Amino acid sequence: MTRAGGASRAGRAGGVALLLLATPVLLHAHGDEAHSINTPQALSPWDLAVLGGLLMVGTLYVLGAVKLARRARPPAPRALPAPPASDAARLARWEPYAFAVGWSALVLSILPPIDSLSLQYFSVHMIQHELMMLVGAPLVIAGRPLQRCLAGMPDTLRTRAAHALQARPMSGAWRVLTAPLVAWALHGLAIWVWHMPALYDAAVGNEAIHTLQHAMFVGTAALFWWGMLYGRYGRAGYGVAVFYVFLTVVHTGILGAMVTFARTPLYPIYAAPAAAHGVDALVDQQRAGLLMWIPAGIVMTLFGLALFAAWLGEAERKSMQDARLKMQTPFLLLIAALALTSCDRSAYREASQLTGGDPDKGRQAIVKYGCDTCHNIPGVLTATATVGPPLMQMGLRSYLAGRIDNTPENMIKWIRQPHSVDPQTAMPETGVTESDGRDIAAYLYTLR
Ligand code: HEC
Repeated sequence: MTRAGGASRAGRAGGVALLLLATPVLLHAHGDEAHSINTPQALSPWDLAVLGGLLMVGTLYVLGAVKLARRARPPAPRALPAPPASDAARLARWEPYAFAVGWSALVLSILPPIDSLSLQYFSVHMIQHELMMLVGAPLVIAGRPLQRCLAGMPDTLRTRAAHALQARPMSGAWRVLTAPLVAWALHGLAIWVWHMPALYDAAVGNEAIHTLQHAMFVGTAALFWWGMLYGRYGRAGYGVAVFYVFLTVVHTGILGAMVTFARTPLYPIYAAPAAAHGVDALVDQQRAGLLMWIPAGIVMTLFGLALFAAWLGEAERKSMQDARLKMQTPFLLLIAALALTSCDRSAYREASQLTGGDPDKGRQAIVKYGCDTCHNIPGVLTATATVGPPLMQMGLRSYLAGRIDNTPENMIKWIRQPHSVDPQTAMPETGVTESDGRDIAAYLYTLR
């Protein structure tokens, strides 16, 4: 595919999302008379604020997706056929579409007619919540919103946002909140607690509480899906994710069944509008319960199955790799033995002489400061990230970050204060101490 093709595809996905946004507004404009019974027709300030936020995120996402799509495909020399897209690239092409659908679902759910009818019918309110939690949140998260929205920001803002996100309290909290068990429990709690009659009625009766309810539904759903898709287990751990998704199917199914089989209306606030529409509130409630129990359960199960398939695929790929590795083992052992006896130890000695640091301590400090959350660093097990460039062969490079000479002083300075070298760089300052900086530099210089 050509470079322009990639960029315009991403752009098109975003365009589709923005167009979909317009639809309910138009529908609404022509259908005013249809639902006039005590329906607050105008969007409340809360709705407008949420809508504004969604529009901003959508715009940043489109800008970032276009930018990243351009960057991902350097123009191929004309004489040669374009290189085949890798699995990752092929997958990534779907992500903007997932985001477009998820984002549109969120927007649709807070606009009339769904939003206004949700105050009249409990069953429509259920549809609204399922759109948010089951379509909006997972698909938006599957579109890697953080990565693309950051890319869509102007440079100075991006740097600041990246810093804030990488700051210790923030990244620590994020790691805790998206741990599968925590995210699963929070999401489950939000669903059960907000379905308590007193709270549910309060939400329907007050726009601010209603917005809080939606924010908690969408927020915990986003944490949940984030934890499932990108959590600390990664793709290889989708087995764990499948388990939590099915647990959610079970408990929301139970809640749905309880609502379906309740003998009396659970939420008195719907009694008056139901009577005004000539609808039996109990029947409406049974519809809502069934929606949560069966269709929502099926969609969730499908997501679980998709994760399961991805997990099996990953396991298969791994075992193929293992088989290949086994065939190479004799050679690898030979090379490892050679490396250990000669160059490796001497590389360590040289590196510590160059920097005055201890490479072994440096390797530990790399994990301590979270360098592994952004870089692929040989010899550091957890360092497989691709946010920053891979730090291969740092001992052989002439330049650092493409800007400064690769000397021990510059290396230490870059590690401790990258912004003193380049104020625009996306690499954050992580508070590395002088001696840790030396140790880390020493370790990086062992990489040849
Ligand atoms: C938030 C992600 C992030 C974290 C955390 C991070 N880096 Fe970076 N790092 C980057 C980015 C992005 C670049 C590319 C910067 C540039 O070229 O302006 C980079 C560049 C570098 C480079 C230069 C690479 C080259 O190809 O020349 C080194 C060395 C480096 N980082 C080391 C570290 C060390 C050591 C730590 C931990 C103390 C660390 N980084 C933490 C994102 C990060």
